[in-house]
Amino acid sequence: MSSEKTLILIKPDGVRRGLVGEVISRVEEKGYSITALRMLHADRALLEKHYAEHNGKPFYEPLLEFMTSGPIVAMIAEGNRVIEGFRSLAGATDPTVAAPGTIRGDLARDQGTKVVQNIVHGSDSPESAAREIAIFFEGK
Ligand code: RTP
Ligand code: MG
Repeated sequence: MSSEKTLILIKPDGVRRGLVGEVISRVEEKGYSITALRMLHADRALLEKHYAEHNGKPFYEPLLEFMTSGPIVAMIAEGNRVIEGFRSLAGATDPTVAAPGTIRGDLARDQGTKVVQNIVHGSDSPESAAREIAIFFEGK
């Protein structure tokens, strides 16, 4: 059986609001396995690597400021088609229009901040997953 890995981050808004357990539950209830997990306060250098593709976009600086504003939780989830499956659980980037039933649709809204705060990150392709897992979990 082929399996797949994705990197999930619970962003500072999710940790601040006490939603770590809720997000983990949704991943587990869907049937994916969490195979690595750590809490960290990411520094700018680490997030510059993680968000390299967004360097130069108008929301890049506010995004780094937000992502360094408090602790985050990083995890690896595994299972067939987990990349697509977690993106579906997370919902659309903009929480105002994310479908009810999704993490962002149920648990987040526009707070009027410079960058949208939407609880979670999930890798968007096998290449991104491999790159991002190496950033947060050396040797995995
Ligand atoms: P993520 O990478 O966090 O899973 O989110 P995503 O794929 O749904 O969205 P992406 O386009 O990769 O953007 C990364 C994060 O940057 C913030 N963002 N703000 N127009 C905006 O204000 C804007 N666009 C993106 C969000 O925090 C988004 O999750
Ligand atoms: Mg993305």
